[in-house]
Formats: sequence, C-alpha cells, structure tokens
Amino acid sequence: MKKKYYEEYLKIIDPIINNEEYIKRKTYRHHQNKTVYDHCLQVSYLSYKIARPIPYIDEKSVAIGGILHDFYNEPWMHKKERAPFFKKHGFVHAKEALDNSYKYFPELMNKKTANVILRHMFPLNIVPPKYLESWIVTMVDKIVSMEIFFQKETLSQIFKIGRSV
Ligand SMILES: [Fe+2]
Ligand SMILES: [Fe+2]
Repeated sequence: MKKKYYEEYLKIIDPIINNEEYIKRKTYRHHQNKTVYDHCLQVSYLSYKIARPIPYIDEKSVAIGGILHDFYNEPWMHKKERAPFFKKHGFVHAKEALDNSYKYFPELMNKKTANVILRHMFPLNIVPPKYLESWIVTMVDKIVSMEIFFQKETLSQIFKIGRSV
C-alpha cells in the first residue's frame, strides 16, 4: 500500500489515536472482524488522501472528522436492539460521536469537523452533509464499509501506531 501523505496525516491525528478513551475503540468490533479503531483510521486516511490534492479544502478537518465519525459510546453489537426504531444505532450514533468528540477533543473541533461527524450517516439520517469535507467522509465511509478492498493488514499495523489495550 502506498503510504502517501502519511507522515503529515499521522501528525494531525496523533492526539486522538493515543488518547485513553479513544484507544478503547480497539476493543469495539465494528463490521466483519474490524474494530471501530481500524475502521475509523481507514476512513480517515483514505478521505485525507482524496482531499489533500483538492485546492482550498480543509484536509485537516477531513482527517479529524473521519477519525472521530464513529466515536460513539457502546459497541453496537453488544446492544440489545430493543430501542424504538429511530433510537437504533444507525440513527443515534453520529450524535453520540459528536458529543464525545466535543467532550474529549474540544480543541480539535470546528464547524467542519462537527458537520463531518454529525452528517456521515446521510442518507439514513436525512439531513445531508453541508461541506465538501463532509461529503468526502460520508462517501468513503460507505465504500470502506462495503469491504470491497481486501486489506490483509489494518492501517494501525501498517503504520505501527496506537498502544494496545
Ligand atoms: Fe457510522
Ligand atoms: Fe463508519
């Protein structure tokens, strides 16, 4: 895999990937055998690589919004999905991720990172993303979640980052 822009990318996300609370996402299973930690890293890095050559884009907000987009509270597979329809994981986790992002990383938040996180579940959540930065992460999240690209190693293994829990 081509590690394009990865040194500058790692500098941007460094305060997040080594944070005690964020590291707990290494134990949350997401889709297939991937953890929330690795899913978010993959979405964020691919989004960053797409955004980086685009003039006037805020690629830092793309990277940060991408890594925080699924920073929700509880592993969704552990939840007993007895909640009313609109309270189910798919509808509420973006807001949870946004609240956690402001709680743990207020200094990294701005209107674009907030919009990336809050609107990434479009069209399931019907309000569309407002910025190009949010559209990129929304689209990349869908593509990555389809698991089209087979990757033997996760990015945290490739980058050798993030302490284990
Ligand atoms: Fe999500
Ligand atoms: Fe996601």
